[in-house]
Amino acid sequence: MDFLELAKKRYSVREYTDRQVEQEKLDRILKAAQAAPTACNRQPVHLLAVQSREGLEKIGKASNLHGAPTAILVCADREKAWTRPYDGKQTTDIDASIVTDHMMLEATDLGLGSLWICSFKPDVLRQEFSLPDNLEVINILALGYAACEPADPERHGKLRVPVEEMVSWEKL
Ligand SMILES: Cc1cc2nc3c(=O)[nH]c(=O)nc-3n(C[C@H](O)[C@H](O)[C@H](O)COP(=O)(O)O)c2cc1C
Repeated sequence: MDFLELAKKRYSVREYTDRQVEQEKLDRILKAAQAAPTACNRQPVHLLAVQSREGLEKIGKASNLHGAPTAILVCADREKAWTRPYDGKQTTDIDASIVTDHMMLEATDLGLGSLWICSFKPDVLRQEFSLPDNLEVINILALGYAACEPADPERHGKLRVPVEEMVSWEKL
């Protein structure tokens, strides 16, 4: 499958079967995370891979995993992330999101469903997982086997802003 085909195939899965993600697949997803670039190669991202019932219940207090049997808390370490000297902007969100996207697309390639989740209670996750102050949960990636009909890979023509509207050009 070429990359564009893969990117179009991916969709947000909000209904999962009970089938757990196999360790070999999870290992490949984590390798994809490792391959992601980060600003200045600072690698501030820490992943908390959760598959235990207790762990999933803890996340359930902060967010809706829609029954996914695996969730990855994508955290960024404020003490490690690069800061742009000109305005003090830190790249924690950006670094964590590239890692999340790499994992999400690898999951799609492996036939898994996924959901990128930002709607969660950060203070609840911090408390439930005893996260230190320097570590911030940026995204949750839910993973598992979809129990719903796949979304149409050609839906983007209708559901996304047209490319011409998204892009402006400074041509010679
Ligand atoms: C940064 C980000 C945060 C998101 N947070 C949530 C979320 O908290 N809950 C949810 O159900 N979907 C969430 N989504 C999924 C989007 O709603 C979804 O990607 C978008 O509607 C496009 O649909 P598609 O993924 O099926 O193409 C998030 C996606 C992104 C990129």
